[in-house]
Amino acid sequence: MHLSTFVNFIGLGLISTVCGSPIATESNSNKASSTFDESSRATISDEMTWGVAQTPNILNDTAVDANAVAKGYDLVNVSQTAHGLAGILKLNEATNIYGYDFDCLNLLVEYQADSRLHVHIEPANLTDVFVLPEDLIAKPRIESNNVTFDTSDLVFKYQEKNFGFSVIRSSTGEVLFSTIGNPLVYSNQFIQFNTTLPKDHVVTGLGESIHGSINEPGVVKTLFANDVGDPIDGNIYGVHPVYMDHRYDSNTAHSVYWRTSAIQEVVVEEEALTWRALSGVVDLYFFSGPEPKDVIKQYVHEIGLPALQPYWALGYHQCRWGYDTIEELEEVVSNFKKFDIPLETIWSDIDYMDGYKDFTTDPHRYPLDKFKKFIDDIHGTDQHYIPMFDAGIYVPNPNNASDIYEIFHNGNESDSFLKNPDGSLYIGSVWPGFTAFPDFLAPKSQEFWTKTIKDFYDKVQFDGLWCDMNEASSFCVGSCGSEGYLQNPAKPNFEYGDVSDTYPKGFEQSNASEYSSIQQKASSTSSAASSSTSISDSQNTIAPGKGNINYPPYAINHAQGDHDLATHAISPNATHYDGTIEYDVHNLYGYMEVNATYNALLEAIPNKRPFILSRATFAGSGKHAAHWGGDNTADWAWMYFSIPQALSMGMSGIPFFGVDVCGFNSNTDSELCSRWMQLGSFFPFYRNHNTLGAISQEPYVWSSVTDATKITMNIRYLLLPYYYSLLHESHESGLPVLRALSWEFPNQRNLSTVDTQFFVGDALLVTPVLEPSVETVKGVFPGSGITEIYYDWYTHEQVDFQAGKNETLEAPLGHIPLHIRGGNILPTQEPGYTIAQSRKNPFGLIVALDKNGGASGKLYLDDGESQEVESSLFVNFVALNNTIVSSPYGDYKISEPLSNITILGVNEKPDSVTFEGKDVTYTYENSTLFVTDLNKDSKDGAFDKQFTLKW
Ligand SMILES: *[C@@H]1O[C@H](CO)[C@@H](O)[C@H](O)[C@H]1NC(C)=O
Ligand SMILES: *[C@@H]1O[C@H](CO)[C@@H](O)[C@H](O)[C@H]1NC(C)=O
Ligand SMILES: *[C@@H]1O[C@H](CO)[C@@H](O)[C@H](O)[C@H]1NC(C)=O
Ligand SMILES: *[C@@H]1O[C@H](CO)[C@@H](O)[C@H](O)[C@H]1NC(C)=O
Ligand SMILES: *[C@@H]1O[C@H](CO)[C@@H](O)[C@H](O)[C@H]1NC(C)=O
Repeated sequence: MHLSTFVNFIGLGLISTVCGSPIATESNSNKASSTFDESSRATISDEMTWGVAQTPNILNDTAVDANAVAKGYDLVNVSQTAHGLAGILKLNEATNIYGYDFDCLNLLVEYQADSRLHVHIEPANLTDVFVLPEDLIAKPRIESNNVTFDTSDLVFKYQEKNFGFSVIRSSTGEVLFSTIGNPLVYSNQFIQFNTTLPKDHVVTGLGESIHGSINEPGVVKTLFANDVGDPIDGNIYGVHPVYMDHRYDSNTAHSVYWRTSAIQEVVVEEEALTWRALSGVVDLYFFSGPEPKDVIKQYVHEIGLPALQPYWALGYHQCRWGYDTIEELEEVVSNFKKFDIPLETIWSDIDYMDGYKDFTTDPHRYPLDKFKKFIDDIHGTDQHYIPMFDAGIYVPNPNNASDIYEIFHNGNESDSFLKNPDGSLYIGSVWPGFTAFPDFLAPKSQEFWTKTIKDFYDKVQFDGLWCDMNEASSFCVGSCGSEGYLQNPAKPNFEYGDVSDTYPKGFEQSNASEYSSIQQKASSTSSAASSSTSISDSQNTIAPGKGNINYPPYAINHAQGDHDLATHAISPNATHYDGTIEYDVHNLYGYMEVNATYNALLEAIPNKRPFILSRATFAGSGKHAAHWGGDNTADWAWMYFSIPQALSMGMSGIPFFGVDVCGFNSNTDSELCSRWMQLGSFFPFYRNHNTLGAISQEPYVWSSVTDATKITMNIRYLLLPYYYSLLHESHESGLPVLRALSWEFPNQRNLSTVDTQFFVGDALLVTPVLEPSVETVKGVFPGSGITEIYYDWYTHEQVDFQAGKNETLEAPLGHIPLHIRGGNILPTQEPGYTIAQSRKNPFGLIVALDKNGGASGKLYLDDGESQEVESSLFVNFVALNNTIVSSPYGDYKISEPLSNITILGVNEKPDSVTFEGKDVTYTYENSTLFVTDLNKDSKDGAFDKQFTLKW
């Protein structure tokens, strides 16, 4: 969640031009505004939230054009190495445009794998240069000793005078990347290269942002983790410095990954892509594909394969900010039961905390005895509970005897918090008031964090954790609490519940000596980062060493109103234990917090897969975390944007993604919520969540939404084995669960921009309604009638679509068009109220035959929760020539039977159907064969042994 006053919305009118999608822009006019009282904020004064206004470079007409002015480098001393080449780059002439130019750089080129090339450029003198540690972010390594220039699909070519390089695909001769003709700019605070792109390029990636899938000319991507309510085109929570370039002339794709945590900006033009970073080294990786799916797999394999999430995480999640009391939480759970809407996991926003302090419980609204009973009850019905916490750790007031918060002491005493440049504690401000921030680079921070989480688990037996505000967000600019923490506990930033019972209750005065450590540290003069001192200088002075880290000479187009890097975030000059400045690793804060949380959960809940939902992400976060789209708005536009955001996160290695269904900020309405509950049920992470003060939006609030929800929840739960198998595939290969049409059909240029539809795996095509007041929706069905067959999910009928045509589909409220692509076999299981119940029900198969009467599919199963999977089951299904064969292997036992097989696209009614040679019951209708009552033939478990079904 977040304070919406900081949101810098860009006019909704832009949406239709940016995305080329038919989206209504006036849908929120008839909505009541949120009851959230903006004037009640009291923790910090407004002035404390104001940064120093910066003019973003890209909005400054007179800004120096580095590409035109810089003189570049010459490459000298080139030598061959075992896997590539090395050389030295000498600066031709210093221009010091946005920082001090380095006069000497080292170039290293490595052929790492047949499909991966590495280009590395770093200053010869690395003093004051941040080099991203390998133990923090995985570094792709040479794969095998036989890879050379001769075997690689990617070839590095260079020009010595006015150094530039190009990367060529050897199989096609195509230039994939070329900086030749444009100077390399390499200063302490500004690194830039500019590569040519072909006209009509198709570039995706460079998340996270709220934008259509394609980065069309004119797009500028700002990569700086930011707590802001999902503004269109602004920088938001995650940073994924990778783009995929899909070339339709040769039907190939490749990607480019800059392994850097630096603050970045990428300018996409008609025929160029210019990548800028404000610190660090050039550590580039090229992945050759050649198909989009190969590109994604190659990249995700290197940054870290996605976590195999627990099976239960596929169930439905309900959350809101404003479940004021434990009774209210109980009521929500019982309402779901009453309306018979499956509820797997109930969540808490900060409501449960005592004074919004992390890992505490409110004694009045969430008394611990009731809280514990609630969780026991939840677990008794096989449901789950997840609370959130924020990055900021409350700093208690030493003058107040009753203001006790042991977690702060533990962190402070173990030296596990971020510091100011002078070594004093960095104290910002989040929900509880003034807060310190864990420094996950500090040596004792893991121990501190593990203890914190274990202690909390002893009180509240949660099933996963939700890491919020971890960009990391701080409401005030700078270490505002250095002098202010004596005002803690502050009043919360919002009115809450019954005003007569407002927090805080009486606090006494006292002298608590143990807190003197804060002041002691504040007065200490030593600092590990003394080489990076800087003056608050909004005039963009160019400084040596680290430079001016508060106001870099190149100002990014940061989506906070004043564009100051310190606004609504921990300041760039906050300092880590080892001297690393936040400026260099800001984009990693959430990533590091998630890693520490993951390690802590492994100890707190042994051998259970940790479930972590994180708002801030970086390349590789998917290996430990799920992610949601952040603070979106209850509006049609944000429902549409959930699709490109999901596709972009998927290609960034975070397949377990969903957004706040029905919308977070502002009030939703029944029509939007109905459409969104249906769309959301096809995303791997399915959670409804909204903000404090907005109207309730649980799916039982409106009967029309209840009905619509049940329809697609039933489909989702029926398909759980399919979804879980896809999660496993993702975990093994890096391939996302939700897939763009352009990844499935990479040779069709006209699909490149489609982000209003998506595939789930290869088999299901979802065509949601994304606008109000309509009863139809348009969609494309690639290859239909030529190479592909599509079946309507609901009627099983083969639909007569024309490839390349924008078909109009009936889609009255409550109906989301869903099609099965011929050639696929989907494993199913009868839905239950919970995941645990569903897993005790009989299995089934949906077999959708292709043009040749063939289909295939697979199933993966295990116990769904063990961290170390000891037994698992894999089943391959193949259909051909009126026969389906299952081939199981693995030792995970399931006892539930196979009850039915539904075969779509059977052209004639068969005379008989046999299962393992025995006649079985079936019906035939609409070219669909329904084989039922198989239970007795698979008593030992659906996939206990191979079976053959013939018709
Ligand atoms: C725009 O850029 C020019 C050249 O770098 C600089 O002198 C000027 O101060 C910038 N304008 C603003 C408003 O920052
Ligand atoms: C990138 O290079 C091209 C070709 O030299 C040039 O036209 C374009 O302005 C450059 N873009 C930037 C942002 O420097
Ligand atoms: C490297 O740079 C630092 C800081 O600019 C300087 O003090 C040092 O002498 C340089 N080292 C070498 C070997 O040039
Ligand atoms: C290089 O070796 C790997 C195994 O180490 C092998 O898979 C690959 O095919 C080899 N490539 C060539 C070009 O020989
Ligand atoms: C650190 O950065 C903040 C925010 O820009 C600024 O207010 C503060 O003065 C800086 N502190 C130092 C010591 O430079």
